[in-house]
Amino acid sequence: MNIPTYVKNEKAISWIKEIAALTKPENVHWCDGSQEENETLCQELVKSGTFIKLNEEKRPNSFLCRSDPSDVARVEDRTFICSVNKSDAGPTNNWINPVEMKTTLKNLFNGCMHGRTMYIIPFSMGPLGSHIAHIGIELTDSAYVVVNMRIMTRMGKSIWDVLGSNGEFVPCVHSVGAPLEPGQKDVPWPCNKEKYIVHYPEEHAIWSFGSGYGGNALLGKKCFALRIASTMAREQGWMAEHMLIMGLESPQGEKTYIAGAFPSACGKTNLAMLIPPPALQGWKVTTVGDDIAWIKPGKDGRLYAINPEYGYFGVAPGTSEKTNPNAMATARKNSIFTNVALTLDGDVWWEGMTKTPPPQLIDWTGQPWTPDCGRKAAHPNARFTTPANQCPCIDPEWENPDGVPIAAFIFGGRRSNTTPLVCQSLDWANGVYLAATLGSETTAAAAGKVGQVRRDPFAMLPFCGYHMADYFKHWLEMGRKVAHPPQIFGVNWFRVDNNGNFLWPGFGDNMRVLKWIVGRVNSKAQGVQSPLGWMPRYEDMDWSGMEFSRKQFEDVTNIDVELWKKEIQLHEELFMSLQDKLPKELNSLREQLLTKLSGSKK
Ligand code: GTP
Ligand code: SPV
Ligand code: MN
Repeated sequence: MNIPTYVKNEKAISWIKEIAALTKPENVHWCDGSQEENETLCQELVKSGTFIKLNEEKRPNSFLCRSDPSDVARVEDRTFICSVNKSDAGPTNNWINPVEMKTTLKNLFNGCMHGRTMYIIPFSMGPLGSHIAHIGIELTDSAYVVVNMRIMTRMGKSIWDVLGSNGEFVPCVHSVGAPLEPGQKDVPWPCNKEKYIVHYPEEHAIWSFGSGYGGNALLGKKCFALRIASTMAREQGWMAEHMLIMGLESPQGEKTYIAGAFPSACGKTNLAMLIPPPALQGWKVTTVGDDIAWIKPGKDGRLYAINPEYGYFGVAPGTSEKTNPNAMATARKNSIFTNVALTLDGDVWWEGMTKTPPPQLIDWTGQPWTPDCGRKAAHPNARFTTPANQCPCIDPEWENPDGVPIAAFIFGGRRSNTTPLVCQSLDWANGVYLAATLGSETTAAAAGKVGQVRRDPFAMLPFCGYHMADYFKHWLEMGRKVAHPPQIFGVNWFRVDNNGNFLWPGFGDNMRVLKWIVGRVNSKAQGVQSPLGWMPRYEDMDWSGMEFSRKQFEDVTNIDVELWKKEIQLHEELFMSLQDKLPKELNSLREQLLTKLSGSKK
């Protein structure tokens, strides 16, 4: 194998040789991250039928890709945390003994890159050289993964300089699991029915087999930046979270940064790029990140966050000039669209992009589509991959290697009832309780049933690389360790009426809730105590330019004691499942909450 002269890391070299010997690719390509390399790969992807080049005038330098219809989302039931001890993975993760898993994977990976090129992708999660950043190397047989990783991470030759001869990296091995026999014709989206997304938390290593889609294959994202990073963070005293990071500047020029955790496809990208309603336009919203936050204590006793990513892998359906004009502007060029529909003039379309659908389309499976055909034009988990620095509202500090100071954490699930529009926890421990017991309806971001309420603690259920109760403990400890921990809030944009219509307008109007949150953090906004913590009264929120009656406010904020008693039973079920390691504090907070609710008249 030819080793480029700028690669000096012996550990990386011997690992790459070992994987090449196992997977037996026809060629090996060292990615340099250059524009020329990207153009060549995109051209090859067009030639092989994987990419369709979009209309250069409407969508410059952008491509449409259709996945295999069986490979459209993360596969949670095929995701494994292979710690040495089962009890370190905990009951919320799939676990298989690492020795056994290694045997399984060695067999699967043996010769799995036959007839393909193995690409070597060096990448940094976080600004190059930041003390919060970490390096990974992904080996993959998918050119689609390479061009996506180039948007989603800081990828290329310069990573080898940062790595030097002794630098640490997270080894990530990926294969679509579809070797080619000599002369065999490739398909546009190779993948394998059998899928394994495997993490070795002690070794900080990742192996992924059989899928080319999103979080299954772009290993810097969920596998590294959340599952492996969460275990690193626990060992090293920081936090890796499924959170957006945003800046809020008041009309007086006061800047407040907040971070927010919402489960997959529950509104992080939308919130991070929010445009305030006209009456509140003295406020300015800026985006630091839309999916992942790495957070470290600073010397001043505050928590500082970076966005480890370099791009957005955003949900397409529902994104429009109305709901998220900033995302629309970001994805106007240099973007990859996966599983959306193709318009007759070579542009993209998805449900919710425009009020009236085009009369004719090619749907995400490549079939002709008309509005009355009864099928969706785009897959519900269709996504755009787009560079963060194209975002019109990107925060000026988004690449600050020291991160931005976080004043508040917000947690929100998709709940048609029970949880109110907003509440503020009395203190850190109550906030940890709120986040730990977060419930949300499942979405199309993961394979499986959609719309079922499940517990999704901290929006991290599919992403925590260790025992969930140990993760709760880590959060409780972080709050004790820092002098100025952020305030913690719960939100819910998704309450509905009896006909299933949303009771809260959401999107830009979420700014009204954020304004109250910023006010609370800066001791400027009033509230009243409820069993769930502090809540705004009708008069504590800014309703300018909006008609929203006291009755409507009551409908999105009331606490139904009967529903909450059922809710607390679900908290108890979660805690029971984690009881071997659950911090006792959380159980007593549950009892206190029950007492408070029983005593409340509402
Ligand atoms: P991942 O990338 O999967 O982690 O998800 P995300 O949290 O970034 O999801 P995203 O912001 O793309 O959420 C998309 C879905 O949430 C779409 O169905 C939106 O219509 C819906 N959504 C976002 N904000 C709101 C809101 O304020 N109100 C309502 N009703 N729906 C919203
Ligand atoms: C999520 O599912 O939370 C995502 C998309 O952000 S994926 O990268 O596919 O995991
Ligand atoms: Mn996500």
